[in-house]
Amino acid sequence: MQGPRPPETHELKQVVDFLDANLRQDLKWTITSEYPTALTQNNIHNMSIITEDEKIVSHAVLKTLIIKTPFAIFKVGAIGSVVTDPNYRQRGHSRKNIERCIQMAEEQQCDIVVLWTDQFDFYRKLGFELAGFDYSYVIESTKPIKNKNLRFESGNNVDPAALNRLYSQHTVHALRSNDDFKQYLKIPNSNLFTAWNQQNQIVAYAVEGKGLDLINYVHEWAGQTEALMDLFNYIYQQKQSPLTIMTPSHSENLHRNLEACTALAHQGFLGMLKLINKKQLFAKIKRAFRAEGLEQIVLEEQNGMIIFGYGTDLYTLDKETDLTQILFGPMSIANLDFMAAATKEKLTTLLPLPIWVWGWDSI
Ligand SMILES: CC(C)(COP(=O)(O)OP(=O)(O)OC[C@H]1O[C@@H](n2cnc3c(N)ncnc32)[C@H](O)[C@@H]1OP(=O)(O)O)[C@@H](O)C(=O)NCCC(=O)NCCS
Repeated sequence: MQGPRPPETHELKQVVDFLDANLRQDLKWTITSEYPTALTQNNIHNMSIITEDEKIVSHAVLKTLIIKTPFAIFKVGAIGSVVTDPNYRQRGHSRKNIERCIQMAEEQQCDIVVLWTDQFDFYRKLGFELAGFDYSYVIESTKPIKNKNLRFESGNNVDPAALNRLYSQHTVHALRSNDDFKQYLKIPNSNLFTAWNQQNQIVAYAVEGKGLDLINYVHEWAGQTEALMDLFNYIYQQKQSPLTIMTPSHSENLHRNLEACTALAHQGFLGMLKLINKKQLFAKIKRAFRAEGLEQIVLEEQNGMIIFGYGTDLYTLDKETDLTQILFGPMSIANLDFMAAATKEKLTTLLPLPIWVWGWDSI
């Protein structure tokens, strides 16, 4: 066995062939077209492989994201394309690749790592926990389009810079270049829908589907709420099959509008999260509290225990994953029976912190 290690440049094709054979059999496209910013030569240093007899048998990749939020800028490491050749499973290969991805994320000053999986217990052993929020609404009936002055289009031939301008208005978003958008627009089965005003300006966009995943799911959208609601109805009319809209918890205006015309289908988690570089993460969070005038915030790690609270009213947590859910949800400070009311009030000023990864960035 050799690795975990990053592939050499000349091994990239072998890595892609391995991933296609194990994760994307019988498809017309290669997995690199689904994750163009992660599975690319530019990110080869963040791939982790294990080989046996010069054959790749296990892989995972890290993609770092700079996520702007109203209170702090977080560096987030997303881990994906975790797979081991069926003949080489149960030998700890994936564990080693994931540990290496976590180590690379630490070295690159990430605050947290995130991944999307249904193998919760496997990742819990590595310190991950389901955290954050994800609200999904299902549109399953035709509603009239309210703004008759809007024009709707389906098709990916849209200026990436115009999309980026709308996207960048989100209060929580990963920094992206126009070139990132250009590449995302080429993802197979990723369908862009747009709303335009009478001046021919784009006022909203929504993206449904992404490669093999998220079919009939709008996983990314941006623009004015009213235009978005009309756009979602337009997409439903085009597709005539139930359409799920994925939203972060802080999009309150959109929630109100969606609640009025759909049933809340599901309240879930952003993904599985793990805190890393805790000193740096805690410093960012404390700075955010201080900026709100809450000078006496306490958040420290001492001898493997987390100490948190306000002023002299302090509490300890021995399970780090509880802190993950307190910082980013879904655990609510209001429900912590042991905490004094005044401290609860102060901590809920910022907690849970809004965090979200838009669909095109997920890996
Ligand atoms: C899920 C998957 C990635 C795991 O890969 P793997 O290399 O077998 O993973 P590991 O060997 O590290 O761990 C698997 C199990 O072996 C155990 N194990 C770890 N080291 C071991 C060792 N040295 N000897 C024997 N077993 C070991 C682990 O504890 C783990 O146990 P669990 O199943 O109870 O959690 C693999 O099954 C796979 O490729 N599945 C298809 C693709 C997929 O679903 N990917 C996940 C997307 S997020």
